[in-house]
Amino acid sequence: MDSSLITTVNKLQDAFATVGVHNPVDLPQITVIGSQSSGKSSVLENIVGRDFLPRGSGIVTRRPLVLQLINRPAAAKADKEGEEAVVPKSNGENLDEWGEFLHLPGQKFFDFDKIREEIVRDTELKTGKNLGISPQPINLRIFSPKVLTLTMVDLPGLTKVPVGDQPKDIEKQIREMILKYITKPNAIILAVTAANTDLANSDGLKLAREVDPEGLRTIGVLTKIDLMDEGTDVIDILAGRVIPLRLGYVPVVNRGQRDIDTKKSIGKALDAEHQFFENHASYKSKAQYCGTPFLARKLNMILMHHIRNTLPEIKAKIQAALIKYQQELAQLGDNLGDGKSNQANLVLNIITEFCTEFRTIIDGNSNDLSS
Ligand code: GDP
Ligand code: NA
Ligand code: MG
Repeated sequence: MDSSLITTVNKLQDAFATVGVHNPVDLPQITVIGSQSSGKSSVLENIVGRDFLPRGSGIVTRRPLVLQLINRPAAAKADKEGEEAVVPKSNGENLDEWGEFLHLPGQKFFDFDKIREEIVRDTELKTGKNLGISPQPINLRIFSPKVLTLTMVDLPGLTKVPVGDQPKDIEKQIREMILKYITKPNAIILAVTAANTDLANSDGLKLAREVDPEGLRTIGVLTKIDLMDEGTDVIDILAGRVIPLRLGYVPVVNRGQRDIDTKKSIGKALDAEHQFFENHASYKSKAQYCGTPFLARKLNMILMHHIRNTLPEIKAKIQAALIKYQQELAQLGDNLGDGKSNQANLVLNIITEFCTEFRTIIDGNSNDLSS
């Protein structure tokens, strides 16, 4: 996520926490849908920027994963003698980032491979090993200084033919599971379609259209661009000549099965994706509109837009808080300089500063959305 957006939202949250008002910015849930193995979990993982989701061919995601990202400032490095310094471990483990499962209260997972293992373990516990599915969500929270506080949902993929222990009406069950999440008006739908399949048959797009017929909150994500036949591309889709979407499509290249097997890192995968679009005859002239970083930026713009729409409400709350503090200040009268009035002044300053900065950031970004 864009760091300026994270900073903005954090300042907002801090200002509200200081005046004791509940934060009114309720950010949308980002929900990933599409056919089985279209690359949903891969897309979500790339957006978050950490390896922690089970991915692979076949039905790997068999329960909804409700992923709450929680921004938490990095702990200051201990510099006093005798205190243990917080240093990242050599395997990339960092004590500022960890996960916690709702079903394992109090247990912190600093090793993200262990998070993946726990998702697999708890999936099998509730659905059996034989490919069963369950609507019972896994709730995972990730605390990190690098994320925006919002919720993302990874869902089982749409499939038609039951295998293993799957119920006969698996298609209907998964549809209902997905609809439950994407019907919420504040859900942003990432409708994932593999580029080596026919867009007209895209399960994700079809389902998205049922709940968002005007396409106001659906983004098309085209995966597996690297697996398309030579000489073919998605230019017509991107140009809106196949199934137009108001928020458009973003082509991406995720890690393939081989990359997963050889544990290719996210960083390396993002570099490879960048190289792919920069060097491809069809995409190089528009490479800036391709790939995971562009998808992340697009999501940021949508979130900014959402914040801007809630700005009147935010302003009203800030004004109410201002009046309250001004009254408190007036009551203190001549006793200025004591602790209480200092605190009130401090809050006034934070809010005023925030309002100015917030307007600048929002006005500076609001025009990019249509790209
Ligand atoms: P999901 O079932 O929709 O969650 O899909 P996954 O993220 O589990 O991916 C399914 C399989 O497709 C895995 O083997 C991935 O490595 C592979 N995959 C996903 N996206 C891409 C892509 O853009 N390119 C390639 N080559 N493989 C991909
Ligand atoms: Na899969
Ligand atoms: Mg998946």
